[in-house]
Amino acid sequence: MNGVSAACCRAWDGLIGWIDARFPLLKLWNEHLARYYAPKNFNFRYYFGSLAMLVLALQILTGIWLTMNYKPDADLAFGSVEYIMRDVDWGWLIRYMHSTGASAFFIVIYLHMFRGLMYGSYKKPRELLWIIGMLIYLTLMGEAFFGYLLPWGQMSYWGAKVIVSLYGAIPVIGPDLAQWIRGDYGISDVTLNRFFAFHVIAMPLILCGLVVVHIMALHEVGSNNPDGIEIKKKKDANGVPLDGIPFHPYYTVKDIVGVAVFLILFAGVIFFAPEMGGYFLEDNNFIPADPFKTPPHIAPVWYFTPFYSILRAVPNPFGGVVAMGCAVVLFFFLPWLDQSPVKSIRYRGLSSRIALAVFTLSFLILGYLGTQPPNPVTANLARIFSVIYFLYFLLMPVYTRVEKTLPEPERVHYP
Ligand code: HEM
Repeated sequence: MNGVSAACCRAWDGLIGWIDARFPLLKLWNEHLARYYAPKNFNFRYYFGSLAMLVLALQILTGIWLTMNYKPDADLAFGSVEYIMRDVDWGWLIRYMHSTGASAFFIVIYLHMFRGLMYGSYKKPRELLWIIGMLIYLTLMGEAFFGYLLPWGQMSYWGAKVIVSLYGAIPVIGPDLAQWIRGDYGISDVTLNRFFAFHVIAMPLILCGLVVVHIMALHEVGSNNPDGIEIKKKKDANGVPLDGIPFHPYYTVKDIVGVAVFLILFAGVIFFAPEMGGYFLEDNNFIPADPFKTPPHIAPVWYFTPFYSILRAVPNPFGGVVAMGCAVVLFFFLPWLDQSPVKSIRYRGLSSRIALAVFTLSFLILGYLGTQPPNPVTANLARIFSVIYFLYFLLMPVYTRVEKTLPEPERVHYP
């Protein structure tokens, strides 16, 4: 080492020491990265948590830049988005990053949750971690819903009208509640202003807070893994799990691979298919909101359509709202509905495997049906698949208890 680099090292150590005497920097670094021992058998399904953090950061950054030119005013909003797309330097890129980012967020989160279902990551001792995750998911749904009104296109307006009017189906308090949410008799400038406030301040703040709590809860109990066994049960003389490796540098480097693949796909969509055939940006949203012209077919963005299908599957409006609410709320109860003695799908019996596969299929089919205009055939299909969706949860205490499971290994499998 030459004199200059030795001096630099001393200055760096001095700076860290100075901060550390005043703030627990090294303690945090060690607890959450350099001495956080993660199971050594993570596979690609463990990329999605860090990717969700990346997308959250991207959404916040691009959101800040969009806000610099966006106008939350019913007369100006649509035009301001067009101005961003056409006249603001790189505005089109920032806007497409944000609109594609919304769909990417849900893709990553659905895969993240699916991994949890596969490996039983919601089971003891991770029940609270799962519940915090579900709170994140609800907040994310709110964030996406509020954001969708902002471009003030036809689908923004009519989508918000349909969803807010659902609250009107609640007996007794419904109509007043819907009016209270809108702040007006219909979706108006007042509604746009408050949705803007929720979208840019309230929801992102709650999301960031929940993500910090999510990571704290994860690091308290430790990560699960594809074998679903607790690595903390087998430690060496220094208290280090035998099947654990320090998160940094092993998984920080591994996660970079996931980030690179994600960014290539993300850029591909932004540059070549930002509307994604109407799935990421709906055609009707390129028309300014018109309260006097109802679009022939109103459908939410793809990430809400499984729940929208369940809503439409029930003929009674209030029943539909209840069914849709239950479809989300049931996820909270998974840690207690699942009675299996093993966590991972690897060691579960045939019925758990079939149940998860059929549930996933029903979720995807409901999602597709929700994008289609309603007709008697799709309505009946939506009913059948809604029943299958609910049976996954409601029969879980039975099939997870009676099926024959395989013995879990003593140590994790590592190729
Ligand atoms: C902004 C959204 C979210 C972020 C940034 C996030 C972040 C993370 C990170 C970084 C991890 C560790 C790495 C990994 O296991 O992939 C993790 C683990 C986990 N997350 Fe999330 N998460 C989010 C949403 C959710 C949601 C919606 C759920 C479920 C409802 C959830 C449930 C879990 C569970 C159960 C684990 C532990 C998994 C295991 O150890 O096998 N997370 N999360």
